[in-house]
Amino acid sequence: MQSKKVVLLNRPVGALKETDMGVFDETLAPLEPGEVLLEIEHLSVDAFIRTTFDEGAFHGTAGLGQAVMALGTARVVDSRFDGLNQGDAIFGPVGAQTHAKLPGAMLQKLDESALPARCSLGVLGLATGMTAYAGMAKVAQIKQGDTVVVSAAAGAVGSCACQVAKNLGARVIGIAGGSAKADYLLNEIGCDAAVDYKADDLAGQLSAAAPDGIDVFFDNVGGEILDIVLLQINERARVVICGAVSQYERTGDVRGPSNYLKIPEKNASMLGFTVMRFAEDYAEIQAAITEWVLAGKLNLPEQIEEGIEQFPKALTMLFSGGHMGKLMVAP
Ligand SMILES: NC(=O)c1ccc[n+]([C@@H]2O[C@H](COP(=O)([O-])OP(=O)(O)OC[C@H]3O[C@@H](n4cnc5c(N)ncnc54)[C@H](OP(=O)(O)O)[C@@H]3O)[C@@H](O)[C@H]2O)c1
Repeated sequence: MQSKKVVLLNRPVGALKETDMGVFDETLAPLEPGEVLLEIEHLSVDAFIRTTFDEGAFHGTAGLGQAVMALGTARVVDSRFDGLNQGDAIFGPVGAQTHAKLPGAMLQKLDESALPARCSLGVLGLATGMTAYAGMAKVAQIKQGDTVVVSAAAGAVGSCACQVAKNLGARVIGIAGGSAKADYLLNEIGCDAAVDYKADDLAGQLSAAAPDGIDVFFDNVGGEILDIVLLQINERARVVICGAVSQYERTGDVRGPSNYLKIPEKNASMLGFTVMRFAEDYAEIQAAITEWVLAGKLNLPEQIEEGIEQFPKALTMLFSGGHMGKLMVAP
């Protein structure tokens, strides 16, 4: 079986470039006992993949010349693993490639009866919808009437986080780059207000959108945006650090917030989390999300790039802001 895989060619310095990766042909060896052969259907384009390109990364460091790490859904083409059969849909760490030969034990069989398989990368995805739900419901503990601000709000986690907060009774303000994304937040995601951080006066736009201050900040970006929001938090605000995409290309020079003294002054808290902390709650979280999706209360738009050759460009898009909703590649 022939496969095409995306390989890391060199460790990026500063901004990620498409040319830091290449696409190469590979001939897969015959299956060993316990393995399955997969045709990959959708690959999740996630910000954490960029962090694996650096030495000492939290999610493990990608080796030069190896397939780039990626979560995906796939169809079983052939199986020597009990419990997975030809035609089954799976989710797992399949890697950025068209086909893969993997131990069946590391894959999760998907039930496609309620939602399509690719939803396990998006609205039901561990690194997307489940992260948004865990961050809002379990870490921020949103209460009816909270004023919530979300950064990178037009992205995958952000689009879900805004809707989760709305469903829990909050007033939601999304921050994103550009007027098209602001329109998307108001018209497709249902935010109460949208703020364009690429336009002038982010602080002024925020105080106009949240005249009574901010109770919860769900931050995906860090850096300057975090500092500006900190100046407008309310007494006992909860600042939830989901990620810091503005810092992922600053290897060894990550900048923390300079306005952090607002945390003690406002008796506020700043809490970080990884979705893995909520492993015991995954079934409950998936059930809650599925119920909202089927009731039309949670919708994650998808942007799907066709062809494995598009994967390097798609990954750079996460940092240049070229997509809305969940970005995937269909190899
Ligand atoms: N805690 C967890 O367990 C967990 C799990 C998964 C993901 N995450 C985090 O969630 C965040 C979102 O991830 P995602 O996969 O859903 O990506 P995404 O939001 O779909 O894409 C990233 C977005 O970030 C914005 N952005 C990029 N660079 C920026 C900058 N310098 N300043 C301001 N905005 C910038 C871009 O939107 P604009 O056009 O608006 O700039 C871009 O669309 C990331 O920080 C990720 O690490 C955390």
